[in-house]
Amino acid sequence: MNYLKSILLIIIVSLFGSLFQHTIALTNLAMLYILVVVITAIRWGRRPALAAAVLSVLVFDFFFVPPRYSLTVAHAQYLITFATLFTVGLVISSLALKAKERAEAASQARLLKEAEKLQTAFLNSVSHDLRTPLAAISGSLSSLLQDPGIAEAERNSLLETAAEEAEKLNQLVGDLLDMARVEAGALKVFRKPVDVEDLIGTALGRMEKALHGFQVSTALPYGLPEVDIDFPLMLRVMANIIDNAVKYSSEDKQIEIAARREGQFVGIEISDRGIGIPPTDLEQVFRKFHRVRRPPGWEGTGLGLSVCKGIIEAHGGTIRAENRAGGGTVIKLKLSVFSGDPHAQG
Ligand SMILES: Nc1ncnc2c1ncn2[C@@H]1O[C@H](COP(=O)(O)OP(=O)(O)OP(=O)(O)O)[C@@H](O)[C@H]1O
Ligand SMILES: [Mg+2]
Repeated sequence: MNYLKSILLIIIVSLFGSLFQHTIALTNLAMLYILVVVITAIRWGRRPALAAAVLSVLVFDFFFVPPRYSLTVAHAQYLITFATLFTVGLVISSLALKAKERAEAASQARLLKEAEKLQTAFLNSVSHDLRTPLAAISGSLSSLLQDPGIAEAERNSLLETAAEEAEKLNQLVGDLLDMARVEAGALKVFRKPVDVEDLIGTALGRMEKALHGFQVSTALPYGLPEVDIDFPLMLRVMANIIDNAVKYSSEDKQIEIAARREGQFVGIEISDRGIGIPPTDLEQVFRKFHRVRRPPGWEGTGLGLSVCKGIIEAHGGTIRAENRAGGGTVIKLKLSVFSGDPHAQG
C-alpha cells in the first residue's frame, strides 16, 4: 500500500513534468523526484524510499532525458544527475528518518517518565489511603482484644470506628476496581429505567451519616422522565459527588440537588457552597489521580471524579464541573432519558 502511494506521487510528478516540459529545467524536475523520495522515507519508511529512488531514476531517464522514451543516455552529464538524484534522495531520507526516530524516541521517553511519575504518585497515594483506615481498624480491634472488661460505651465507639473505616476501605477498593474496569473497557452497564427521584433519594439515604449537619434541598419537577441507567453504578457516581460536596464544604453546609429535562437528557446538578475548584482545574479534576493543590487536611486519592466520568461516559452521558456564583461548586450531569417505555401497552 505504501509502495502504491509512493508510485502515485511519482506518477503525479511525471505528469507535472510532461505538462511543463518546456518551461521546467530537467534539474528542477529531478528535485521534485528527490522530494518524492524524501516524503516516502518520512511517511512510509526506508524500503519504499529505496524503491522510490530507483523508480524515480528510471522514470526520469525514460520520459525526460534525451533521447526520450529510452533508457539510453545521450550525454554523460545525465549520469551525474542520476547519481545525484539517487544519492541525495537516499541521504536526505535517511537523515529525515533518523530525525523522526529520534523525535519519537524522545517523546516516548517523556511519556514513559510521566507514566512512571503517575504510577509512583498512585502507589504512594493508594498505599497511604489503604493504610490509614487499616491502621484505625486494627487499632480499634486490638484495644478491644486487649481489654475484655472495656466499658460498653467505649466498646461501641471502637466498633463504630472500625466499621466506618472498613466502609472507607470498601469505597476505595470499589473505586480502584471501577477504574480498572473503565480502563480495560470491561465496565458492564446494565441499564434499566430509573426514576430520578429514586436515584437521588437512595443516594442521599446511603450518605445520611456523612450528611449530618448539612442542609440538603432537592428540586425535582413533577413528571420528570425516567433515565436509562445502571442503578448501582449511578449510585456510585452520586455517592462520589456528594462525598466531595461534603468533604470540600467547611462553614456553609448546604447542598442542593436539582434535576430537569433537557431534550433527550435529564440534567442533574449537585451544588455546594464549599471551597470551590480553581478555574484552571475545572477540567483536570476528572483526570485520574488529579487533586487540586490545597492546604493539608483534605484527604483523597483523586479517583472519585475520574470514576464518575468513566461510568457516565459508558452510559453516553456527560459530566462537568463549574464554579458557582457566590462561591462553591456545581457538578452537572446529563443522563439519557429512557425511551422504550415498558408500560406503554395497555
Ligand atoms: N465539590 C467540590 N468542591 C471543591 N473541590 C472539589 C469538589 N469536588 C472535587 N473537588 C476537587 O477535585 C479534586 C478531584 O476530586 P476527586 O473526587 O476525583 O478526588 P478526591 O476527592 O481528592 O479523592 P477521592 O474521591 O478519590 O477520595 C479534589 O481533590 C478536589 O480538590
Ligand atoms: Mg472525591
